[in-house]
This record gives sequence, C-alpha cells and structure tokens, in this order.
Amino acid sequence: MPKLTRPQIWAHRGFSHSYPENTMASFHAALSLGVDGLELDVHLSRDGHLVVIHDERLDRTTTGTGLVVDHTLAELKQLDAGSKFAARFAGERIPTLDEVLVLVSQSSRPITLNIEIKSGILPYPNLECLAYEAVSRYGLLQRVIFSSFNHFAMRNLKQTYHGSRIGLLYTAGLVDPWRYAQFLEAEALHPLFYSVDKSIIDDAHRAGVAVHAYTIDDVDDMVRLAADGIDAIITNRPDVMLQARNNHESL
Ligand code: G3P
Ligand code: MG
Repeated sequence: MPKLTRPQIWAHRGFSHSYPENTMASFHAALSLGVDGLELDVHLSRDGHLVVIHDERLDRTTTGTGLVVDHTLAELKQLDAGSKFAARFAGERIPTLDEVLVLVSQSSRPITLNIEIKSGILPYPNLECLAYEAVSRYGLLQRVIFSSFNHFAMRNLKQTYHGSRIGLLYTAGLVDPWRYAQFLEAEALHPLFYSVDKSIIDDAHRAGVAVHAYTIDDVDDMVRLAADGIDAIITNRPDVMLQARNNHESL
C-alpha cells in the first residue's frame, strides 16, 4: 500500500509531547520521526537576536525569570530550557533561529519550516522582517512559511518582501476567511482546528489558499480534517499522527 503524503504533518514546537518544546532536542526528535515540517516560535533578545521560545516570559519553560526581551543572547544562553520538562533534558538551551535554520538546511528531506512571529503581545518592531532576512541568508525562503496572530506583522512582511509566504493564525470562526486571506495576499490560513470544516477548506482551495490547522493531537480529529482536505496539521504528537497516516486504511 503506498504511503500517504497528505495531510502534511508538522511538529508543533518540535516533538513537544515527549521533548522540551522549542529546543534542538525537540526538533531533532521530530525530524527523526520523519515529519514533513516543524513549527516554532520566535522572539527578540535585548540585543536584537532571534530566539526560539514560545512565551514572552522565561519562567514556564526555562530556569530564568522575566521577559525574554530584557535579556541579552549571552544571558539567555546561560539558562536551562530542558530541565523543567524532565531532568534528563538538563542542558538544553534556548536555540537561536540560526541554529534551527542550520538544522533545516542540513536535512536530507525538504521539510517545511513554519516560523511563528510572536509579536502579538509585545511589539517587537520589524521582527518579521528580521526573521525573513535570516531565512534568506540561508537560502531557505522556499522552505519557510511565516505565520502570526498579529496580522499587521504579516501585512508588513508581505509588503516589504513580496515573495514571502505568510499564514494567518486565528482561533474563532471567521466568515469566508479565504476572502480575508486574499485581501492580505496570504498563501495560507492557520486556524485553530475547531474553526474549519470541509466547506471552508474547499472554498479556500478554490481561492488558491492553503489551510494548515493547529493543534491536532487526536487521531479522530486528523481523520476528519484529512477527509475535509486539510493541507497540513500542526501537532504535538507527530509520532501518533505519522503512524495513523501510515495505516491509512482508517483515513
Ligand atoms: O502555529 C500554531 C500554534 O503554534 C499557534 O499557537 O500559542 O501554540 O504558538 P501557539
Ligand atoms: Mg506557535
């Protein structure tokens, strides 16, 4: 039986169910599983470096306290980003975006990298363009889609770099979201998965807009979304989702 390649399976913050989120250990583990893509979150350090972490604050996932943006990269690199998840991951660090770009550029498979611009709460000026320029330096623009809940950031990126690929993150149900995607010239919608159904996905596809949904950790939800034609699912459980896709008689 041929293996299914759809929907694409993207690892949310890496293989974050089993590894500390947004760490190199988590990204390596996801790639080892054979995922089609990685999702990660970026913030800015005090001295202007792009760093991979989900929260604005350090407290939940690292041994640090306070805001990411109040620390230099050297200070952030002192922190442990693994031991709060499990003692055996002590020594994991907050990665820079560059470290992940090196990993992606060395991957033997052409995986997609979904870079989420975390400027929804703190206003990091031009974070999206700095991320684009980093990706460009590695020659990876064709492999990357930028996303954000801050659609002003996505519009700014698209207007500054017309060739950038952007996805619009949202949570609640929107009426005709593909119209909005077309208005912002977005390549994709990135909805919370409850917010899409087959008619929205079909209409988005007719409009030339892809649909990448988050965060799907239950096989039944993936099966429903696969039947509806979703292009990619973003999951904390890439192990379970890949296995389900491989046993695709159930899909
Ligand atoms: O990109 C999908 C998902 O990561 C958005 O929410 O809060 O997990 O970054 P969050
Ligand atoms: Mg994210």
